Amino acid sequence: MYITVIGCGYVGLVTASGLADTGHCVTAVDHDAEKIDLLRNREIPIHEPGLKELVEKNLASQRLIFTDKLKEAVGRSQIIFIAVGTPSMPDGKADISQVESAVREIAVNMNGYKVIVNKSTVPVGTGRRVREIIGEEKRVKFDVVSNPEFLREGSAVKDFFHPDRIIIGTESGKAVNVMKEVYNLFLKKKTPFLWTDLETAELIKYTANAFLAMKISFINEIANLCEAVGADVKAVAEGIGLDHRIGSYFLLPGPGYGGSCFPKDTRALIEIARNKGERLSLVETVVESNERQKRRMVEKIKRALGDPRGKILGVLGITFKANTDDLRESPAIPIITELLLCGAEIRLHDPVAMKKAEMIFSASVHYCSDEYEAITGADALVVMTEWNSYLRLDFDRVKKIMRNPIIIDLRNIYDPSTLKKHGFTYVGVGRF
Ligand code: UDX
Repeated sequence: MYITVIGCGYVGLVTASGLADTGHCVTAVDHDAEKIDLLRNREIPIHEPGLKELVEKNLASQRLIFTDKLKEAVGRSQIIFIAVGTPSMPDGKADISQVESAVREIAVNMNGYKVIVNKSTVPVGTGRRVREIIGEEKRVKFDVVSNPEFLREGSAVKDFFHPDRIIIGTESGKAVNVMKEVYNLFLKKKTPFLWTDLETAELIKYTANAFLAMKISFINEIANLCEAVGADVKAVAEGIGLDHRIGSYFLLPGPGYGGSCFPKDTRALIEIARNKGERLSLVETVVESNERQKRRMVEKIKRALGDPRGKILGVLGITFKANTDDLRESPAIPIITELLLCGAEIRLHDPVAMKKAEMIFSASVHYCSDEYEAITGADALVVMTEWNSYLRLDFDRVKKIMRNPIIIDLRNIYDPSTLKKHGFTYVGVGRF
């Protein structure tokens, strides 16, 4: 099938190259001509494992092309995916202006029946709004589908090919048939499909993200309680996770969730409810709890270190999680900012995000070329992100080069007893 994907961010790029790999002819469109040039030259603007290979393979087979010209792409495609950003506005509502302008552009360039598929996370009711906008512009037949995306950064390619489920929201039988053709390979592989109306599909995405954020905040608060009562959160999480009704995933405590989705989508869901006169008090508490968790990490570091003024902190990792170069809403940013304000000296290392970090902290932080350089002379080592490379440190060497042997492990990646045996003071989250 001929498919257009509008937006070459995380979701758009993975969707476009993934759909091309399943046999479709995909045109990926972005307004950013510079980004399109990069992509045509096989340069991927984001760090995402496996994506470069996937893009290269499908460019070579000519099933994937990149362009900044929407008109031609829409003209030759029956299906148009919208995968543009829906960032938070200052009041927490999702800004759907990029979706609306993409839809207007599609509308003026439509030359026959099209299925407009929304992959962007949009407030409930946006699908109907899309229908109105196109209806105002054009007298041609079309259908609107909500097909929310559940990709995780860092494992987006794997998630594309092995989704837990595919959600399709539409009331049109004709659109259902088109979507079955788009996802033919996944139907054959017996991937679970859920066919719903537009509003339900839109709400499923927000509900999933809010629930996962709640799970994280819940275990973060239990971790804090573990510290107060002398329990081990790792064992508590294991103990509850063995109950199938709870499940063992998303029970890793840490410095608070970040990224491009959970913070934005929890805030947007609260606003969606508020608009309808409903209150999602649990989700409101999750958002507050996550903010508190970041502040609590600063207090934890100060307790271990004493007055941070003049102290050197070797900080490992700045991305919101491992295997991505994304710094959006990374908890490391407010934590480092606060420590700098308290007078600490920060020596930072991250395997992939140093350039992005420099754009945030400029000269107020020392940027180090490896872990050991960051730790040299440090009064404490702070793990902000659970990169695999930090697991394999040579702790005898670390001990020798640090000024004080304190390890503050905000991701619980180390075994406390091993580090204690090496002579370190270990501070984790919810464990000793
Ligand atoms: C999330 C959803 O998982 C995905 O389905 C959706 O499409 C986009 O949002 P992503 O933001 O890429 O994906 O990352 P995810 O792996 O879900 O982690 C989000 C945040 O939660 C990270 O900051 C991570 O460190 C944190 N987290 C996750 C925890 O603190 N503990 C956990 O147990 C899991």
